[in-house]
Amino acid sequence: MNNILVTGGCGFIGSNFIHYLFNQSDFKGKIINADKLTYAGNPENLKSIEKKYSDSRYFFEKIDIAKFSEIESIFEKYEIDYIIHFAAESHVDRSITGPSEFIHTNIVGTFNLLELARKSWKDRKDVLFHHISTDEVYGSLGDTGYFYETTLYDPRSPYSASKASSDHLVMAYFHTYGLPVTISNCSNNYGPYQFPEKLIPLMINNMLEEKSLPVYGDGKNVRDWLYVEDHCSGIWEIVKNGKRGETYNIGGENEWTNVDLLNILCEKVAVEKGKDKDYYKKLIMFVKDRAGHDRRYAINCDKIKAELGWKQSVNFEQGLEITVKWYIDNLQWMKNINSGEYRKWIEKNYLNRQ
Ligand code: NAD
Ligand code: DAU
Repeated sequence: MNNILVTGGCGFIGSNFIHYLFNQSDFKGKIINADKLTYAGNPENLKSIEKKYSDSRYFFEKIDIAKFSEIESIFEKYEIDYIIHFAAESHVDRSITGPSEFIHTNIVGTFNLLELARKSWKDRKDVLFHHISTDEVYGSLGDTGYFYETTLYDPRSPYSASKASSDHLVMAYFHTYGLPVTISNCSNNYGPYQFPEKLIPLMINNMLEEKSLPVYGDGKNVRDWLYVEDHCSGIWEIVKNGKRGETYNIGGENEWTNVDLLNILCEKVAVEKGKDKDYYKKLIMFVKDRAGHDRRYAINCDKIKAELGWKQSVNFEQGLEITVKWYIDNLQWMKNINSGEYRKWIEKNYLNRQ
């Protein structure tokens, strides 16, 4: 019957995790979702959850984790047993043009949460701070090799440097104060509710609007894609059974160059839209490369498989088909974001409500 504080629950992975958790028969507790509702936070992702569980098992709090007093109010109002910390500035391109928010939210925000957990939990051992991190902290691979939990950190963008810094703080609180913590470092997620600035939803959106599909550099950068629900099941497994003080890598074991992925995605969207399979490929356009663009990420996730019995449940074909279908069936969701309508809804229902 644990109460879980989910930070960043209105974002892509956080909202998928909340949906996932309410579908688990071994979760009977409450979720407190603390989210600042930045451009990436969209409570529309959780409409059905609000409707079903509001005021009994689901509580939303508009909170900036970088403001100590705001996050302190959550600890005063609720008894928290687990913290599952998703909240972050998450887009690499934005960290290149404006790194300051990344330092604020990802580093100071994580520090605030750790301090409050330490002060309010004191010596409790039946609690957990689970930190969601990324494979980007490990740097960039050449043509071969994998990231292991033991790989030395080598972050190369302001985003990954801020995530690396927060990972170090989390482990420091374990070693120094004995705070029960776990960390997961995950590869690229895809699936429903992903903000259309990230590769897959951006490209689907542009195809549907017949806009160009911008591929950075030579398009040969490699990412390891994981269906978001499989990330959620990995996190839940770690929370329940992971060894405290340990890091677990979670990956798709599913490497694709950007350009190969895009070609397949074009075909999947074409099938759904009843077009010739090559129809959207003419929109592919090579553009200037991302500054400091990491060449290849590839996760070794043997540890979580061997120790916790986790495995991926969806292969890439299935995952992409579900994803493409979801965006096409939920066109209004995308339109609300593109038109800014979702912000008006947030203003009306969330920003002026406290
Ligand atoms: P997202 O950008 O979709 O969502 C981030 C959420 O955090 C939003 O709801 C936003 O409003 C909230 N937020 C931002 N700043 C905040 C603040 N100061 N206080 C409170 N809430 C704030 O991100 P995502 O893709 O869902 O990523 C979630 C986590 O997973 C991040 O920590 C990210 O680093 C990590 N991660 C993401 C991926 C991926 O492929 N998307 C892969 C590995 C790890
Ligand atoms: O690896 C995990 C990380 O994956 C997470 O920690 C980040 O939060 C998440 O945003 C993601 O980072 P990437 O930079 O890998 O994701 P993005 O979708 O931005 O880009 C994927 C690849 O596609 C990357 O090589 C850059 C390229 N790309 C991206 C965009 C948006 C393009 O070629 N064109 C584009 O328009």
